[in-house]
Amino acid sequence: MIEKTVISSILTGIKPSGDLHIGNYVGAIKPMLDLFEKTERSFLFVANAHSLNGLPPLGNIKKQTIQQVASYIALGVDPEKTHIYLQSDIPEVFELNTILSAVTPKSWMNKAHAYKDSVSKNIENKKDVDENVNMGLYTYPILMASDILAIGASHIPVGEDQIQHIEITRDIADRFNHYVQRDILATPEYITTENQNTIVGIDGRKMSKSYNNVIPLMTSIEERTKAVMKITTDSKGIDDPKDIENSTIFKILDCFPQSSRHNIEEFKNNFAVGGIGYGQAKQILADTLNEYFNPAFERYQKLMQNSDEIERILADGSTAVRKIAREKLIKIKENIY
Ligand code: ADP
Ligand code: TRP
Repeated sequence: MIEKTVISSILTGIKPSGDLHIGNYVGAIKPMLDLFEKTERSFLFVANAHSLNGLPPLGNIKKQTIQQVASYIALGVDPEKTHIYLQSDIPEVFELNTILSAVTPKSWMNKAHAYKDSVSKNIENKKDVDENVNMGLYTYPILMASDILAIGASHIPVGEDQIQHIEITRDIADRFNHYVQRDILATPEYITTENQNTIVGIDGRKMSKSYNNVIPLMTSIEERTKAVMKITTDSKGIDDPKDIENSTIFKILDCFPQSSRHNIEEFKNNFAVGGIGYGQAKQILADTLNEYFNPAFERYQKLMQNSDEIERILADGSTAVRKIAREKLIKIKENIY
C-alpha cells in the first residue's frame, strides 16, 4: 500500500504509559523514526484524554506523559522537525469529536474491539454487560478519528490492534464528506510494520509488559544487563554445538547487528560450533544493547531534569497544531451550520 502512495504527512498517537521496552522500540518506535525521516510533515502526540478513560490514580497521566515525551525525544524524535504535543492542548479535536459523533452510527461503536472485549469479559465473568464500561471507552474510536481528521494526516503508523480504528476513521470521514457533499475530510491510510519486527522477551514468548519478560529501554547499564542475564536458555554445556535459530539471545541480537566491541557475525559462527557458553553470549548481547541505548538513556535523564524544556517543546507543538486544526474546523463548521 505504501510503496505506491506518497506519504505527505504522518501522525502518531502514543498512550502515556511509563516503561518502554526494546520490543516497543524495534516494533513501533524505530519504524516510526524511519518514517519521520522520510516525511516532510510529522506529528506525535500523547493521547492523554484517551488514558483518562481508565481513570488512573491522579497524577499518573502527568508523570507518565513527561516520561513518554522525554523518552521519544531521547530516542531520536526531533522537535524541530516533528510537532510534539498533548491531545488535551488541542480543544479543536474535542469540538470535532462532537460533530463526528453525529455522523457515526452507534452500531459501529458496538463493533469496536476495545468495547467488545470488555463486554465479552463481563459476560464470561457473569457480570452486567456494561460493568466498568464508560462512555469514553465506548466512543473511543470517534475521538481517535478526531485526532487524525483534525490534522488531515495522510498516514498513520499503527500496531495490528489499531487497524480497526483507522478503518472506522475512514468510514467516519466518508460519511461526513457524503453528508456535506464535499471532500473536506482526508481519509487516512494505515501503515503497519509489527509482523515483520516482533521481538521475543527474556522467556522466549513475545516481549510484553503483561508477560513481565521485558528488557527495559530507559534504564541504567546495570539494570539492562541484569534483564539480559535472566534470559532463559536450554541446558547445553560450553562445548556443545548450539542451536542459534531458536535461541532467544540470538533472536534479540539479530535486531541489533552492529557493535563496536564485538564482531557479531564471527561470534555467531563460533558459538554455533561450540566452545562458548551462554553467559558469554548474554554478555555480548548486553554490551550491544547498552552501546545502542545508553546514550539515549543519558539524554533522557538530562531531559527529565529539565522539565521546562519539555514544557516549551509541548507549548510550541500545540501552537503549531492548533493553527492547523482551527483552519480545518472553520471549514467544517462553515459547511454544516
Ligand atoms: P505491551 O505488549 O508491552 O503492552 P504495547 O501493546 O503497549 O506493548 O505496544 C506498544 C507498541 O509496541 C505497539 O505498536 C506494538 O506493536 C509494539 N510492540 C509491543 N511489543 C512488541 C514486541 N515484542 N515486538 C515488536 N513490537 C512490539
Ligand atoms: N489508540 C492508540 C493506541 O491505543 C492511540 C491513539 C489515539 C492514536 N489517537 C490516535 C494512534 C490517533 C494514532 C492516531 O495506541
